[in-house]
Amino acid sequence: MILDIFKSHRYKSKTFIDVVVLNAFLEKFCPDKSLEIGVLYGETLVFIDHHSRQTVGVDIKFPKRLKDNKFKNVRLIHAKDKSKEKNIYDFIHIDGDHSYDSCLEDLMYAQSRSSAKTIILIDDYFNPDFVGVQDATKRFLEHSKFKVGLIGHNQIFLEHIENKNFVNNLLKNALQNNLKHFCKYDYNTAKYQDYSGQLNKQSKLRILEHCL
Ligand SMILES: C[S@@+](CC[C@H](N)C(=O)[O-])C[C@H]1O[C@@H](n2cnc3c(N)ncnc32)[C@H](O)[C@@H]1O
Repeated sequence: MILDIFKSHRYKSKTFIDVVVLNAFLEKFCPDKSLEIGVLYGETLVFIDHHSRQTVGVDIKFPKRLKDNKFKNVRLIHAKDKSKEKNIYDFIHIDGDHSYDSCLEDLMYAQSRSSAKTIILIDDYFNPDFVGVQDATKRFLEHSKFKVGLIGHNQIFLEHIENKNFVNNLLKNALQNNLKHFCKYDYNTAKYQDYSGQLNKQSKLRILEHCL
């Protein structure tokens, strides 16, 4: 099932390795409630939905193509209505407007809907076209109970200070054993890098078949 999802996606806005790591994380984490800010075509929402009991997706517009995905339990809401949502989420993916102000607002909103167990994932952290994401995250971290848990190819996981090393511990076996074909992983610094640059999508899927 999960391999079919990988096969059917184009990863236009996502790198393969980040989706693989996202999937590996969610598979172990099994969130009860998840939130995604910035849904677009649902490339990541489909993985979040697959591993979560309930998922809320927030965006300012919902393209027709989004309906091509077969979601299990997703509720889509417009960004202007998100303050009405009072859920506390286990997993929050921030991938909306990548400007400094919006990203900071999304992080503050995420914090207001979080518990000490919540994991926040921020996309496009290392994308030079969106420096606002990194600047906003650094600003947020100065005054937050969330700290960096795992640093990825182009994404970064935040965890609560009471939950230190959670993401790293959860993923270390997967990254060291199963996913070693895709990423170079340093457990001490909690960093992974894309390792699969030369592989085409077919080869990646073939390797993934043995990993999942
Ligand atoms: C990079 S795309 C998201 C990609 C998506 N996660 C995927 O995997 O396909 C960014 C999305 O953020 C949305 N967006 C822009 N401003 C937003 C806001 N204020 N709140 C929520 N979403 C917003 C855009 O409409 C766009 O769909």
